[in-house]
Amino acid sequence: MTTFGVPLLRFDSVSSTNDVAKELAVSGASEGLCVIATAQTAGRGRHGRSWSSPPGEGLYLSLVLRPQIKASASMFITLAAAVAVAETLRLDFQIIGDIKWPNDVLVKGRKICGILVEGAIDGDRLQYAVMGIGVNIAQRGFPEEIGDGATSLLLEADLVVHPDDFLAAMLPRLETWYVTAMTKPDRVIARWEELSFSGRDCRVRVESADTSIEGVTRGLTPSGALIVELASGERREIVSGEVKIRAVNS
Ligand code: BTN
Repeated sequence: MTTFGVPLLRFDSVSSTNDVAKELAVSGASEGLCVIATAQTAGRGRHGRSWSSPPGEGLYLSLVLRPQIKASASMFITLAAAVAVAETLRLDFQIIGDIKWPNDVLVKGRKICGILVEGAIDGDRLQYAVMGIGVNIAQRGFPEEIGDGATSLLLEADLVVHPDDFLAAMLPRLETWYVTAMTKPDRVIARWEELSFSGRDCRVRVESADTSIEGVTRGLTPSGALIVELASGERREIVSGEVKIRAVNS
């Protein structure tokens, strides 16, 4: 069963591929429809941030999904996407990344991929989800506000890759891990833990709207929450917030 990328809609420039995919989902688009754009004028990230989307330098894509799951299980879609990207980088482009919970993919501490899953809920069920993925491919530098917090395939491996080549390698992995997330989510958790260095035994600070805690990561719960052990030994399950990786002596 191959549905991801069927149909594949290409645009030169859109505000955000997630917005286009959402509109199509609302009008009844079926699972697997993929929107890609050469550039985005208002690319969006998590926590209300923007996503730098210069023409031709990144892969900007959004997939329409219609998972038969409770909204509370949507974390698995996010984790599956991160696993697919990290695997693609590692197995197809020999770039070893780290998945920072839940779904940033970093290389040597710099972000190479961001994932934004958005959806609509009907009662306690997900009506649809849009999986938006941005991969930095050919950037040689980033806007001042990002500074050296981001990297690209070109900067990391001196690889000249066309966004379409990355797409072709990633789509089958995305579909496989999405199907796995829907049927055997424990396998996604296990693979996520293998591909995440910062998800285990790493000092982190987790910042959320009203609190901030520091501790050491201890992997994921079966539902995908990040386990953080505090200095007191107490273990907290993180379901939202932003993880900041701490240097060993900071
Ligand atoms: C993040 O790291 O904060 C998530 C970034 C997600 C960026 C992608 S690019 C394709 C899709 N369209 C958007 O506007 N955002 C996502």
